[in-house]
Amino acid sequence: MKTYTLAVIRGDGIGPEIVEETLKVLDRAGERFGFRFDYKPCLMGGCAIDQTGLPLPPETIEICKACDSVLLGAVGGWQWDSLPGHLRPEAGLLGIRAALGLYANLRPARIFRPLRQASPIRQDIIGEGLDIMIVRELTGGIYFGERGRTEKAGQPAAFDTECYTVPEIERIARVGFEMARKRAGRLCSVDKANVLESSRLWRETVLRVAADYPDVELSHMYVDNCAMQLVRHPRQFDVIVTSNIFGDILSDEASMISGSIGMLASASLGESSGSRAFGLYEPIHGSAPDIAGQGIANPLATILSGAMLLQYSLNEPAAAAAIEAAVNKALETKRTGDIFEAGYEKVGCAEMGNAVCEGLG
Ligand code: IPM
Ligand code: MG
Repeated sequence: MKTYTLAVIRGDGIGPEIVEETLKVLDRAGERFGFRFDYKPCLMGGCAIDQTGLPLPPETIEICKACDSVLLGAVGGWQWDSLPGHLRPEAGLLGIRAALGLYANLRPARIFRPLRQASPIRQDIIGEGLDIMIVRELTGGIYFGERGRTEKAGQPAAFDTECYTVPEIERIARVGFEMARKRAGRLCSVDKANVLESSRLWRETVLRVAADYPDVELSHMYVDNCAMQLVRHPRQFDVIVTSNIFGDILSDEASMISGSIGMLASASLGESSGSRAFGLYEPIHGSAPDIAGQGIANPLATILSGAMLLQYSLNEPAAAAAIEAAVNKALETKRTGDIFEAGYEKVGCAEMGNAVCEGLG
């Protein structure tokens, strides 16, 4: 039988619980669609710091590189908050993105039909539904620029630098255009070109790349305006392409449109070969240490990340669609605490995972 190797990083907090449910769902999807998984567990984040002293042990990178793709739960927690920056769990996350060359972060923000009422956005603004794809640059910009402590005007000071090269902008712009081509054909490039030189280069470069995509309708928006428009009139957006830090902020904002950050999946992709691309798949939420180990976390964002894995890296679109349908079906009767509404059955993490498995038939 077709076997895919998957590096599995359970991580910290609720990470192990939500990953467990996702592996159950992936196994069930495999049974139904004729493939199986060989899981290779590896360490990253706080648990890696505890066991090896490093947030991203070199062995983890080796294992990931040898696999078809990577599934990640979440990392971080208060235990590791006072460590110096380069030893924090977050450094593991940034390190793995860089080490695996995962420069394109896809963060879909959409409304699941059964959850329409959960959105804090007015129903007349949501209209027939929302489906926005944020394409965030993930291995450049201020996250990876020069930073440090210094002195300014005789006072202690600190700096971080936003720097983008033309090839970095070009390749993420292409991901945005290609994505728009597969969807409604509209791309909005978000920058701060009225102030930042790096944004002016971003805009120039996106405009140049646009010549190769005459079929895509391109617009530009300043990031502050975009933050406002996402709430005022979110339906105007199809695909948004933006820098690392703007994408970080806008994707959290866009996630709330769907009602709960516990619902949103993400894919981080590198260079693709043919129809298959190596990627890392993770929910966009964090490790929620406050509810870890209680069995009440919402596993759906991770399960939906599993669906993205099947779609983008393993070229199994039918299995991906079946998982999404099973998630929608589960939501018709069952809810975890974060998305609970009167009239539904309140379930825990494992019960939600089981419901999705059942929905897969
Ligand atoms: C995210 C997170 C990370 C980021 C943090 C945890 C480093 O917020 O994936 O959005 O800022 O990229
Ligand atoms: Mg974030």
